[in-house]
Amino acid sequence: MRAIRCHAFTGPNDLRLEDIPDPVPGTGQVLIAVEACGLGFVDGLLVQGKYQVKDPLPFTPGGEMAGRVLAVGEGAPGDLVGKRVAGIGKGGLAEKAVLPAIACAVLPEKFESAAAAASLINYGTAIYGFEDCGALKAGETVLVLGASGGVGMAAIDVSRGMGATVIAAASSEDKRQAALARGAHKAIDYTEADWRKALTEALEGKGLDVVYDPVSGAWSEAAFRSLAPGGRHLVIGFASGEIAKLPLNLALLKRASLVGVDWGGHARADAKEGARITRRLMELVELGKISPRADSVHALAEAPEVIAAMLARKMIGKPVIQPQV
Ligand SMILES: NC(=O)c1ccc[n+]([C@@H]2O[C@H](COP(=O)([O-])OP(=O)(O)OC[C@H]3O[C@@H](n4cnc5c(N)ncnc54)[C@H](OP(=O)(O)O)[C@@H]3O)[C@@H](O)[C@H]2O)c1
Repeated sequence: MRAIRCHAFTGPNDLRLEDIPDPVPGTGQVLIAVEACGLGFVDGLLVQGKYQVKDPLPFTPGGEMAGRVLAVGEGAPGDLVGKRVAGIGKGGLAEKAVLPAIACAVLPEKFESAAAAASLINYGTAIYGFEDCGALKAGETVLVLGASGGVGMAAIDVSRGMGATVIAAASSEDKRQAALARGAHKAIDYTEADWRKALTEALEGKGLDVVYDPVSGAWSEAAFRSLAPGGRHLVIGFASGEIAKLPLNLALLKRASLVGVDWGGHARADAKEGARITRRLMELVELGKISPRADSVHALAEAPEVIAAMLARKMIGKPVIQPQV
């Protein structure tokens, strides 16, 4: 089968498309024909060896995938064969991959593989972040930093679906338009020196209740300072490459909370929680409250350049690779 292989932690440009043997499902695993594999900033960190976990070389990147089950290993439910499933694992940038059966969610007919592979991590993070960590309520106002990225777009969709007013912050007009098209009520340019003034204007006298922050750097403290009393700042990631430091007196003065949101860590600590959040994602899709989708689809051979574009801040939304096309 064809697969993208990482032989050294030297970044996306050194990834290679190769022919390797098909994986064999082990105990409790299923083998899937990968129809779609979502890519995120994390994949860029992984192939540079900059992620908190390093896979042994060589490896096939790609963590969130959807496809049809071809075979099952010992102890995995045989009735999964032929079903379309989605799950988080390893080696999704390939024509075939194995997943733990326990990590697989059977997809409803109307939930396309590309949309499922685009949403497992980012929508899981947004649902866990807003519902469980941020206790977002209808009528509250949310600021999404890095709003046109994969994580940001999911945050817009989920918080809007929960009845919030959503202000998107992004660096270019194209990106702000994409965030508005995804459902943000307003969009501001957070690369302007006085961007907090634009934020105050966008708030129209309302308080800022929740900050969704996958970017960090200098933006974090400025956003925290804009919170209303009782506000929650959700720490999601560090796409800017800088980890912000916050003077703790601000939390006291603002009566505001800084909340870390690590969906992956939460799901690893309790597998039942990962499954619950994925079920909640499907439920919200069924209810029509959210509409996950791939923002762009690409062939397997294009995966290295897509990862490079994410690292260079050039992508808009969530890219998905379709290895069978
Ligand atoms: N906590 C969790 O459970 C969880 C889950 C998934 C991902 N994450 C993290 O969330 C972050 C975003 O991931 P993503 O997949 O949404 O990435 P992405 O699609 O590449 O989006 C990141 C956004 O950050 C902004 N940005 C600002 N400075 C940047 C820089 N120097 N380089 C690249 N982007 C920059 C960009 O928007 P502008 O150009 O508009 O500034 C970009 O759209 C990553 O740190 C990732 O590790 C966390």
